[in-house]
Amino acid sequence: MKSIRIYLQERKREKRRKYFKKQKKIQKELNRYAWDILHSENFDSSKNNMQHGSISVKEHSIQVARYSVAFSELLGVEHSRRDLVRGALLHDYFLYDWHKADKENPHRLHGFHHPARALKNAEAEYELTDRQREIIKKHMWPLTVKPPVCREAWVVTAADKYCSLLETIHLQKGHRRKKKK
Ligand SMILES: [Fe+2]
Ligand SMILES: [Fe+2]
Repeated sequence: MKSIRIYLQERKREKRRKYFKKQKKIQKELNRYAWDILHSENFDSSKNNMQHGSISVKEHSIQVARYSVAFSELLGVEHSRRDLVRGALLHDYFLYDWHKADKENPHRLHGFHHPARALKNAEAEYELTDRQREIIKKHMWPLTVKPPVCREAWVVTAADKYCSLLETIHLQKGHRRKKKK
């Protein structure tokens, strides 16, 4: 008979195996629908702009796309996977560091203004669908006042808030650790 320790170890291993399998599947979806965005110079340049703590805008955008796919599978609602992935990757395509303000770009109301800037940049480089536009424009809801009008935009809005919360909590943990030293 298996000991409880071996049983728990096997369960843990199985859970981890399933997790990595799922992550691999999600990455495949990202590559399938947005290979061009993921390998573009401008998207890559957003690794130099910080989002929350030590997380760059590039890392944040990829995480939001991954969680958007995971959430939509969990909800099991009909949607366009292509629009969901591309909209999520471009939702913060504002291409500047909002922590570094200057006279020309004070970034004072970044939370309110960056969806419009992201949309303008994305429109200049990619052919967007109405759903993708909606995702980028409304992802900061309720700051946008008008709520999203498609499922894909609701999913990305939720994933964005979830990822931002995780990134902020990690940031706060880091601060706490620094204070103890
Ligand atoms: Fe944003
Ligand atoms: Fe975001």
